[in-house]
Amino acid sequence: MVRHFLRDDDLSPDEQLAVLDLADELKKDPLGNRALAGPKSVAVLFEKNSTRTRLSFEVGIAQLGGNPIIVDGRSMQLGREETIEDTARVLSRYVDAVVWRTFAQQRIVAMASAATVPVVNALTDEFHPCQVLADLQTIRERKGRLAGLTLTYLGDGANNMAHSLMLGGTTAGLHVRLVTPEGFQPLPEVMLAAKERASETGGSVTVHTDPKAAVEGADVLVTDTWTSMGQENDGMDRVTPFRRLQVNAELLAQAAPEAIVLHCLPAHRGWEITDEILDGPASAVWDEAENRLHAQKALLVWLLNERR
Ligand code: CP
Ligand code: NVA
Repeated sequence: MVRHFLRDDDLSPDEQLAVLDLADELKKDPLGNRALAGPKSVAVLFEKNSTRTRLSFEVGIAQLGGNPIIVDGRSMQLGREETIEDTARVLSRYVDAVVWRTFAQQRIVAMASAATVPVVNALTDEFHPCQVLADLQTIRERKGRLAGLTLTYLGDGANNMAHSLMLGGTTAGLHVRLVTPEGFQPLPEVMLAAKERASETGGSVTVHTDPKAAVEGADVLVTDTWTSMGQENDGMDRVTPFRRLQVNAELLAQAAPEAIVLHCLPAHRGWEITDEILDGPASAVWDEAENRLHAQKALLVWLLNERR
């Protein structure tokens, strides 16, 4: 059966652990695994901007001996009249996997429905599961474990990072606390799925309005932009209700001693996070960015070699 990675709960807790363990192995020996030699080709398509995802997939696929094909999706026939399903059928004849950054999750679901090769979500409006694999790898490196830790996310509770942290975090057995203003609540369907996952793993997921209370004792603080790609002109005030969620020294002081701070980047310095925190000792963001490379390589090896 072809496996896809469209959202974080596409991996069971055991499968997520296997991918994270492989990511750690690949980090120790980046050129030691040639699982995509042949070479296997991977199409990596972008309908939104990217620095980390694009570069880490391209480098990672090459390190595995594969052939990365990076395409600006905005220049494909997809952008004209060709359907997503027809695109999937054609791409499946050329490449061994498709990685796609697009808008609505429904688009990548449509791609996977017609593809005969694995499809990987490189960010949609609703989920960013590759990022959360890297986040989990980073947390485990710094804290030595995942299950039982408390992670507090401060920001847009309805964006891709919030949803992926809810699903990926509970899959790892984390206690995920979301702090978000009224009107930015996560999708009910995602909340339900995260609660189900948490009940299997011993994790939990809760939504809060008071940042100080939600940060109290947290092991990991995570933030993200208040305005995600595609939301620039959505008519919502994406500043005023978010100001009190800024990750700064005062807020970090409420967290557990030795708490770490993550941000998927790009950061808007002085808005969702201060320079002092981003550049300070609690920040794990550069390791987090590096781990995109290792985690995605592990995911591709797992999808292409272990499950087909
Ligand atoms: N964090 C992340 O996905 O970064 P890019 O948008 O640069 O790929
Ligand atoms: N929530 C952000 C993540 C960027 C990597 C966005 O979608 O723009």
